[in-house]
Amino acid sequence: MQQISSIYLKIADNARVFTPVELGVLREVLLDINVNSNSTYKLVEEKEGERVAGFAVLGRIPMTAFGWDIYWMAIDKDLQGKGIGTRLLRRVEALILSAADKAIVRVETSARKDYVLAQNFYCKRGFIQAGIIPDFYGTCDDLMVFYKKITNRSLKFGDFTDS
Ligand SMILES: CC(C)(COP(=O)(O)OP(=O)(O)OC[C@H]1O[C@@H](n2cnc3c(N)ncnc32)[C@H](O)[C@@H]1OP(=O)(O)O)[C@@H](O)C(=O)NCCC(=O)NCCS
Repeated sequence: MQQISSIYLKIADNARVFTPVELGVLREVLLDINVNSNSTYKLVEEKEGERVAGFAVLGRIPMTAFGWDIYWMAIDKDLQGKGIGTRLLRRVEALILSAADKAIVRVETSARKDYVLAQNFYCKRGFIQAGIIPDFYGTCDDLMVFYKKITNRSLKFGDFTDS
């Protein structure tokens, strides 16, 4: 298990967008997933052949009817831009919809330049930008919020009501 965690940490580190503090938190989260069978975090990985190409960490947002957060998502540096992140996102959405008929998936990311590709990725995969909180991560490092409504059934956008 410990060895598996280090693969994910290496992939996240290679991405060169996550800060040491974020990587430290990721380490803690991976440890929690490893040792705690009731962990609120869920881990999804995507392979390219036999190689682990990337991973995502997600979880239900407490006190919401259908909220899920994608906390981390990373594809190994040399495998980015080849459609693997799209496959991984599909797997993430399938996992969520295996637990619920519908969900609102939230992603928070920095507005920094090194996250522009990630922002494009989410927008191209159906996420909608919901807002910006200036200086949230630090001076001139704004928080961007994206969301996507997903459903197992062919509900219309406006039909997305509590049930
Ligand atoms: C964001 C990320 C998960 C996307 O995965 P990916 O496998 O590179 O994405 P895909 O190949 O499936 O999709 C590529 C699309 O995403 C965007 N994209 C994101 N990162 C890209 C990259 N490094 N190279 C090329 N395109 C990239 C492009 O807009 C591209 O659009 P297109 O298919 O219309 O050309 C991945 O690039 C990554 O790990 N980035 C670093 C870590 C990160 O920023 N994570 C998200 C933080 S919340």
